[in-house]
Amino acid sequence: MEVVLLPTPEDCGRVVADAVAGSVLAALAGGGPVVLGLATGSSPLLAYRELLRRHREEGLSFTGVQAFLLDEYVGLPAGHPESYREVIRRELTDALGLDPAVVHGPDGSAADPLAAARDYERRLLAAGPVAVQVLGIGANGHLGFNEPGSSLASRTRVKTLTEQTRRDNARFFGGDVDAVPRHVLTQGLGTILGAEHLVLVATGEGKAAAVAAAVEGPLTASCPASVLQLHPHATVVVDEAAGSGLARAAHYRYVLGHKLADQGW
Ligand code: GLP
Repeated sequence: MEVVLLPTPEDCGRVVADAVAGSVLAALAGGGPVVLGLATGSSPLLAYRELLRRHREEGLSFTGVQAFLLDEYVGLPAGHPESYREVIRRELTDALGLDPAVVHGPDGSAADPLAAARDYERRLLAAGPVAVQVLGIGANGHLGFNEPGSSLASRTRVKTLTEQTRRDNARFFGGDVDAVPRHVLTQGLGTILGAEHLVLVATGEGKAAAVAAAVEGPLTASCPASVLQLHPHATVVVDEAAGSGLARAAHYRYVLGHKLADQGW
């Protein structure tokens, strides 16, 4: 995996935008339908703002792109402002000109969430592979909503959130932990590994331990994000604070400073 250690969150946003734009353009040039894997949460927001700027000012086109979300809360009615499908429309896809019909997410409002999980996995496999999957990381190392203990081979399914994740996410629900659903639908770790390129972004000291465990710790279900170690094309983009627990930081900086001209992300 490539670890890109950068001074500021804004620098991280630019590199993630580069990686996403590069993969989308390469896939569009290949002629096929392009599937973009999107994450919600605060980590990718600067990257999304940068993609929006390029779309507005530089004509970066997302025509022909379909988007698939990583995860969704169970039990929020369709159209709830904090459902991830609404969040991603608000933060990114509407302004990119993507029709809501090509922005897919697991149906958290379905009467049968177990069936909704199976259905989402099927739809994703039929449309995929995902050209590039944007990822954040939870403070406990979760990926999507795959909490510690999740099978490294898991597929899209229903999961129960840890109380830590519910507390972390209460800020999106007016600080009310009780308003944060207990159950979620999430792509499994095995599903996520099916994307052609994984780009994980993390900023701030609160993510330092999780990033270090994911990148330099053992491959273990106890740190779901360590599954990136199994992927042949994974890019981890972190600012100095989120990278402060990395033992090989000097080496990552050295590698970054000596990239070949055409190496890309
Ligand atoms: C959330 C999401 C994840 C996200 C993570 C980190 O609960 N389900 O997809 O990556 O937690 O969130 P943030 O980027 O806001 O720190």
